Amino acid sequence: MIKAGVVGWPVDHSRSPLIHGYWLEQNAIAGSYEKLPVRPEDFAAFVGSLHDGGYAGCNVTIPHKEAAFSLADDVSEEARAVGAANLLWLENGRVKASNTDTFGFIESLNRVAPGWNDGAGSCFVLGAGGAARAIVFGLLQASTRPVVLANRTREKAQELAGRFDPKGARVEIIDWHQRQSAVANAGLVVNTTSLGMHGQPALEIDVSPARPDCVVADIVYSPLETPLLAQARSTGLRVVDGLWMLLYQAVPSFEAWFDVRPAVTPQLRKLVEDDLIADRERE
Ligand code: ATR
Repeated sequence: MIKAGVVGWPVDHSRSPLIHGYWLEQNAIAGSYEKLPVRPEDFAAFVGSLHDGGYAGCNVTIPHKEAAFSLADDVSEEARAVGAANLLWLENGRVKASNTDTFGFIESLNRVAPGWNDGAGSCFVLGAGGAARAIVFGLLQASTRPVVLANRTREKAQELAGRFDPKGARVEIIDWHQRQSAVANAGLVVNTTSLGMHGQPALEIDVSPARPDCVVADIVYSPLETPLLAQARSTGLRVVDGLWMLLYQAVPSFEAWFDVRPAVTPQLRKLVEDDLIADRERE
């Protein structure tokens, strides 16, 4: 019996048990995936007890991602880039850490909007938080196109850009209130802010002037179709919603613990979609 789980505080709202539970069943693996509520002050001890607890590893969510990165014996390039880890696994007695958001985002583009990287235009990223870090890092690796970055707090955009592009050769920063000006030349527009999420204002931007081959992605998945994506879709642009990233970012975790590369299927997507809808109805 291989054990894994998601560690957070709180951890109730995590969709990961649904996703990994589906894959365990589909692949007929004798394993389990639990929700593991662990207080911040207990996190280091929890990581130290993974082996004795019989765990192959775990996912890590708020507020433990930075601590997971610091506590690991070995960290992947992605985790180092982001400065935070969402995946821990044990290997030869060592605690390994990675961050699967970069993979999850780029893979969602590759699968849902194939050819997204073939056209011209910039990659326009809105936001400069933790998710933006993983996404900008991925875009700089996957694409040779320039990245344009806009964030409400400009200093955070500068800090992010300086992290990956200290000479300013690839990342251009524009003011938040100038964001509309970057749309016309964008081949990809990505919202990494919380704007558009249920209970939050919409991201105010008009993507209709974008190039016809522009792809519009949102990391928000509740609602599945944010006002940004609704507008992009009605303009005829290709869209990639945040649920795709959520599903694809889970793939490397499952593989690290259970040694099987799982598939993101329409059935899995429907399962999580239905759960999101049920959650909304409960609220
Ligand atoms: P995550 O890990 O999901 O990226 P985060 O690190 O808290 O979360 O980042 C949230 C992002 O949403 C930030 O870019 C934030 O902008 P600031 O850096 O200026 O805080 C952005 N954001 C949140 N609320 C916003 C709002 N009302 N208007 C504009 N940007 C907002």
